[in-house]
Amino acid sequence: MAKGKTTAYFCQECGHEASKWMGQCPACKAWNSMVEEPTIKIKSETVKQSNRVGGILTKLSEICTGEEERIHTGLLELDRVLGGGIVPASLILVGGDPGIGKSTLLLQICRTLSEEKKVLYISGEESLKQIKLRADRLGSFPEGLLLYCETSLDTIESVIEKEKPNIVIIDSIQTMYKEEVASAPGSVSQVRESTASLMRIAKGMGISVFIVGHVTKEGVVAGPRVLEHMVDTVLYFEGDRYAAYRILRAVKNRFGSTNEIGVFEMRENGLAEVKNPSEYMLNGKPKGASGSVVTCSMEGSRPILLEVQALVCRTNFGMPRRTAAGTDYNRVNLLMAVLEKRAGFHLSDCDAYVNIAGGMKMNEPSLDLGIVMSLASSYQDKAVEDDVIVFGEVGLSGEIRGVSMTKQRILEAKKLGFHKCILPKVSIEGLGKTTGISLIGVSSVKEAIALL
Ligand code: TYD
Ligand code: MG
Repeated sequence: MAKGKTTAYFCQECGHEASKWMGQCPACKAWNSMVEEPTIKIKSETVKQSNRVGGILTKLSEICTGEEERIHTGLLELDRVLGGGIVPASLILVGGDPGIGKSTLLLQICRTLSEEKKVLYISGEESLKQIKLRADRLGSFPEGLLLYCETSLDTIESVIEKEKPNIVIIDSIQTMYKEEVASAPGSVSQVRESTASLMRIAKGMGISVFIVGHVTKEGVVAGPRVLEHMVDTVLYFEGDRYAAYRILRAVKNRFGSTNEIGVFEMRENGLAEVKNPSEYMLNGKPKGASGSVVTCSMEGSRPILLEVQALVCRTNFGMPRRTAAGTDYNRVNLLMAVLEKRAGFHLSDCDAYVNIAGGMKMNEPSLDLGIVMSLASSYQDKAVEDDVIVFGEVGLSGEIRGVSMTKQRILEAKKLGFHKCILPKVSIEGLGKTTGISLIGVSSVKEAIALL
């Protein structure tokens, strides 16, 4: 950048910085997303972290971590996603579409947290009255919970320094601003600087900070993508706005596994934990219907049974129509090509609609066989028996490949009353004895379809 230049162009989608304006961001390829913003010099304290001692090198063996302490949120589903609870002095970003329930989730955990810890809930979006109204919907709260409505981070910082809470919740980062940054709240520079100062607070004072970040596709507000690099943990709250269930997914976690999910249901009085998502997902499955197959997806350490539905019918137009809801569209196309080439199905003049019932989004490869079986079942109009569960990865040659954690999947199916399991032949070896459920190993798509 030219010497003395105080502005630069930032992509509002990904935060890419350039010295001149461009129509398309070279990093994320978004169009018309570059906006001129003042640049700020990084202060040395931003870089310096409390746990770093200037110039002194430390041996790994000399560092003592002690007993790792985790703060429990009162919601087991959230604790699991966090890797066992909140790690003190960590920075946690909770992202998600507006209206999905981020504020509700965070206010809800304040109930348990504020029983033992000092919790400060800072809102830049709602008035105290609105928060109180929401809290009344959620039930009774302990007296100790502190609320604060403010958007200036400099003021917030001084309040935190004075009050010294254990946990701070910032709702949301897009409404916060730092005075020394000239651009508007929600812009990339503001979001980045605000997060940097929250990071200093978290690491410097040992406070766990939750940050709420909205995601918008239009790029009007800087998406939390910029933030993801800076924080310790990134959680995404997702789900269909019109369906009741919500999934909390860890996409980055310095203190735990990233694959874990937590399942909630949005009710009248806040979010309720869904302890057994499989039961929840299979609720309302039709009996004896063709095109409906139960399969199992591993989400972190937890198997979830779900129903794949397919509808294959003759197309009335030259171009067959294909849709995939809840799973990858390209994957469905690929599996249809495998069926066409390796199993001799004539799908080129058929419309095909694939849906993961319940509206969950699942992309695990082990769903492949379930999708293939449901397509074949619908095409041939032959129903798969109701007590059968199917899983396995499908390769391009039509071979069925092994999947991980076979045992857990089978146990989950058994728990929910399934009696038969169609799975990759290679996965059966080394599985040991299973009682109460019969295992049918298949090694190719053709073999699997012959079982219909
Ligand atoms: P909210 O937490 O405000 O979303 P976000 O902070 O992510 O923007 O959630 C708002 C939605 O949740 C709103 O549509 C109403 C609904 N809701 C319930 O269904 N039950 C409840 O008890 C509460 C508090 C909200
Ligand atoms: Mg909110």
